Amino acid sequence: MDYRNVVGSGPELAGFSADVLLVVLTPEQSRTGSAPLDALVSEALSAGDLELKDGQTLYVHRPAGLKAPRLAVAVAGGDTPRQFKAAIARLASHAKGARLTHAAVATAQGLTVMAAHAEMLAAAFGDATYVYSLSKPSAPKPAALKKVSLITTAGDATAAREGLARGQALAAGSALARELGNRPGNYCTPTGLANEARQLAKTFKHIKVEVFDRAAIEKIGMGSFLSVTNGSAQPPRFIVLRYEGAGKDQAPVVLVGKGITFDTGGISIKPAGEMDEMKFDMGGAASVLGTFRAVAELRPKVNLIGLVPTCENMPSGTATKPGDVVTSLSGQTIEVLNTDAEGRLILCDALTYAERFKPAVVVDIATLTGACVIALGHIHSGLFSADDELAQSLEQAGKIAGDTAWRMPLDDEYGDALKSNFADMGNVGGRAGGAITAAVFLSKFTKAYRWAHLDIAGTAWKSGAAKGGTGRPVPLLTHFVLSQQGKGALEPKPAKPAKPAKAPARRAAKA
Ligand code: BES
Ligand code: MN
Ligand code: ZN
Repeated sequence: MDYRNVVGSGPELAGFSADVLLVVLTPEQSRTGSAPLDALVSEALSAGDLELKDGQTLYVHRPAGLKAPRLAVAVAGGDTPRQFKAAIARLASHAKGARLTHAAVATAQGLTVMAAHAEMLAAAFGDATYVYSLSKPSAPKPAALKKVSLITTAGDATAAREGLARGQALAAGSALARELGNRPGNYCTPTGLANEARQLAKTFKHIKVEVFDRAAIEKIGMGSFLSVTNGSAQPPRFIVLRYEGAGKDQAPVVLVGKGITFDTGGISIKPAGEMDEMKFDMGGAASVLGTFRAVAELRPKVNLIGLVPTCENMPSGTATKPGDVVTSLSGQTIEVLNTDAEGRLILCDALTYAERFKPAVVVDIATLTGACVIALGHIHSGLFSADDELAQSLEQAGKIAGDTAWRMPLDDEYGDALKSNFADMGNVGGRAGGAITAAVFLSKFTKAYRWAHLDIAGTAWKSGAAKGGTGRPVPLLTHFVLSQQGKGALEPKPAKPAKPAKAPARRAAKA
């Protein structure tokens, strides 16, 4: 899609040439400065066909006095970027016709178009025009739309251009994450995900990729990750993505994404209802690939590493059994009390692997727990971090992107539930606080760096009639990565304070 900014004034709207003119009003700002357009809107208002209320839309074919043959007007709840996005999403449905290739978007006078508005516009068009078709030949043809012109004042033009570029990259990244999530488990296998990563590296020369197969993963020593693959006929993959946008002296941001391409639960098998949705259990991995896609286009001055452990979780005669003890890459042993708590088993080894990059910060993203869905529903992703500054950066990125996360607790006390008589830890606590015990489990593998965990179990996809991937949290992650620019990422984790002199002596005495 070609998004461009056009500088124009109200009176010029009537003569603007496009297949459809889309206009955003607010309850406070309903005049555009175009006489025929304003006359049309006031007529519709007095006829009761339109109200200046959030959610209202009006479509007019061959609007009198306008050059554009179609007009759609939407009333936004106010002038925030989020409200603007909701209005654009409604208008975009009027730009999907088979013969519509050029849509123009204008706003009421007084509605200042900031970069964030323009970004939301491109993101909303991306969302509205995405069509899944890989395994559905009868899917509707993608919209014919080729060009979207955002008409702004000269004063808003620079911000609009910057926002459109960002929105376009975000839309492409989110669409990739949605697409990968939507693909059925027999299409999107670990090998398939690795091929998608390779494809990214082929398309964007700033992305490098390395793929490890089972033998290589064994050699690294990822015993916890490999234990999850025992029941599956599909071979696992460990994907390492790199984007180098800054000097080698800059510590990288590392993103780690859970890539379970299908989660049956394993021997601790899940009930049949809605089990199909466990094809979305690679949503974390999809968001890492989607973020690389967006970053490759925006080219921020940061170094970025993506780590994706990917496999299936299947039951079989060779599958890991409840009670089996596995040895993680960190050396810590884990009693697999429930084979359905597999996400943490693949993530812990990837998190240990992350240490070798001497990261500025590590963020893992995972459809980790049903408990997180119970806690936060489908609005906010769960955010867990012991690092206040990092947590705030992620919260802030989510707010700017309209892709929010809500901070959850991470006290060590929750870890008591993970005690095991037969290993250094069990892989599950009780049902209570399940999203938190999962995060505390991961925290036992992240002591070497600044770390945050995003549980996206409630936000990565939608159920019901609109079943499908959302592309979240690509917007949050991309904004977070952008925010690390120039700052030289966050300060590296401060060195541990020196041990009191007495401590070694005491240890020596014990020995
Ligand atoms: N992939 C699931 C989490 C999940 C479940 C996400 C439902 C979205 C909807 C994860 O692997 C899992 O099965 N978690 C278990 C953990 C439990 C066994 C401690 C869960 O949440 O039930
Ligand atoms: Mn599971
Ligand atoms: Zn899972």
